[in-house]
Amino acid sequence: MENQMEIVILPDSAEVGRVAASVIADVVARKPDGALGLATGSSPLAIYDELARRAAAGELDFSRMRGFALDEYVGLDYAHPESYHAVIDRTVTKPLGMDPELVSVPDGLAQDVPAACAAYEAAIDAAGGIDVQILGIGANGHIGFNEPTSSLASRTRIKTLTPKTRADNARFFDSPEAVPTHCVTQGLGTILRARRLVLVAQGEAKAEAIAAAVEGPVSASCPASVLQLHEHATVVIDEGAASRLHNADYYRYTWANKPEWQRY
Ligand code: F6R
Repeated sequence: MENQMEIVILPDSAEVGRVAASVIADVVARKPDGALGLATGSSPLAIYDELARRAAAGELDFSRMRGFALDEYVGLDYAHPESYHAVIDRTVTKPLGMDPELVSVPDGLAQDVPAACAAYEAAIDAAGGIDVQILGIGANGHIGFNEPTSSLASRTRIKTLTPKTRADNARFFDSPEAVPTHCVTQGLGTILRARRLVLVAQGEAKAEAIAAAVEGPVSASCPASVLQLHEHATVVIDEGAASRLHNADYYRYTWANKPEWQRY
């Protein structure tokens, strides 16, 4: 069992995608019927591109892997191209060759939201838990849609998006007002139960959130700081996202001197 929080600083987004993809590939190779935790948004696209390339080359087989998305907007039709049902299908399920029957996204259209959230938790448990959870990070430190002050022990539930998150995600919609106000998201406690966490971030807009998550106190004010409580979290970032870290040189040195026997 590994016990580490590893910070990997790389020159660009493609390299971030390649290294993070190698972590996922290692899990898929060892457990071809395991479960992946899937993030949406821009950050993990380089991972999915790299995994799709390896799948197309016959190096990886995702056909028996399960997938569980982190979150979904409430009240947004699944036919809407920016619903996370549609995004996961377009950017993950199809390109990686996953079986749509094995890929789940939280139910943002449920009549009984608490029951749907409990069912989602139960489905993750029934699958044997998540083997590796892919994460992005919001500029305010959110992971999934666990906005600041989310309980560090929270499970899948409905959340109100902050105006900042709605503004950040307005680029995907016709107008800022079209961004839903609520979401259903796996909780921080749900995320902590995954066996392995891989968080990716690119660009200076994420630098403050990354510094708070990695070097700040564990606090609900920066939900991503909960990674410090996990026994095997890997943070893969580019130079921009690393630009506010105090100990960046130490992380570079650690990565450059990573022992051969210590796998991804
Ligand atoms: C989405 C999710 C969010 C995003 C975050 C960063 O499933 O979990 O936490 O990862 O909002 O979004 P991008 O990557 O678009 O900057």
